[in-house]
Amino acid sequence: MALASIGYLRIGSTDVDAWMSFGTDVLGLMDAEQSDLEGVRYLRMDRHPFRFAIEPCAEDKLLSCGLEYRNAADWQAACDALRKAGHTLTAGDATEAARLCVSDFVTVSDPAGNVLELYYGRRLDYKPLISPTGVSAFVTGDEYTGDMGFGHAVIPAPDIEASIAFYTELIGLGISDDLYPPMPEGAPESRVVFMHADNPRQHSLALYNQPTPSGVVHMMVEVSTLDEVGRGLDLAKAAGHPVIASLGRHVNDNMCSFYVLAPGGIAVEYGYDGLLVDWETYTPTVSTEGDLWGHEYNFPG
Ligand SMILES: [Fe+2]
Repeated sequence: MALASIGYLRIGSTDVDAWMSFGTDVLGLMDAEQSDLEGVRYLRMDRHPFRFAIEPCAEDKLLSCGLEYRNAADWQAACDALRKAGHTLTAGDATEAARLCVSDFVTVSDPAGNVLELYYGRRLDYKPLISPTGVSAFVTGDEYTGDMGFGHAVIPAPDIEASIAFYTELIGLGISDDLYPPMPEGAPESRVVFMHADNPRQHSLALYNQPTPSGVVHMMVEVSTLDEVGRGLDLAKAAGHPVIASLGRHVNDNMCSFYVLAPGGIAVEYGYDGLLVDWETYTPTVSTEGDLWGHEYNFPG
């Protein structure tokens, strides 16, 4: 049993309208033009009905990650394995499943308390995707790669060994790269474990060994060309969103990207040229550098 992809994120926001403007006017995502009684708004990248749900919340934080299994049998196998290992699963009700556009789902917390929604059977939306900023296509998979999910997310995992075991033994992810970035003297050791799903994207989910109050270290959106990345950078600066890492290229997934803070402070990586991997022939790596070049960090405050 393998996890197919990381399908969506649910993001809690203290200012949903500001997040939607950022999502459409900077990231170039399409407003799905659906809202529900709770005031949740939805952003599309492709034929999935949404990849990001922006939900009114007292805090700006990641509410949950939607993890997609290819079919009911794979999903059931993961649920059985989690129950057998002593994890508490909450069955999703039909109304919520309809809202998430999935056939069925369960909710479970990982060892760090990150909330996961495991699902299968997504209802697609065939209305043409029109990016308000002219992004030609978001990289989420095609007829050659299959669905590669929305991108990737890095989430906190202070007890990183427990989280690695949870995701590799029970959820169905594999390890791609284990990064020990250089740290200033006296700083605690930093470690990021990058994990892949059963699709060619070099990593779909990564674990960071330090607590992160917002529940997400960053999330990544991939576009098709360098010009689209550059245009996104111009739009982010023009709209006054803090750019917290300059243009650069990562060593492990080859992503050429910059990082910007969304309204409320969640970091978004915006890049192109991510590595596609054949897992049959890949050997996991250990990295001691995060970047080939660039990504000069500049955190406000
Ligand atoms: Fe990233």
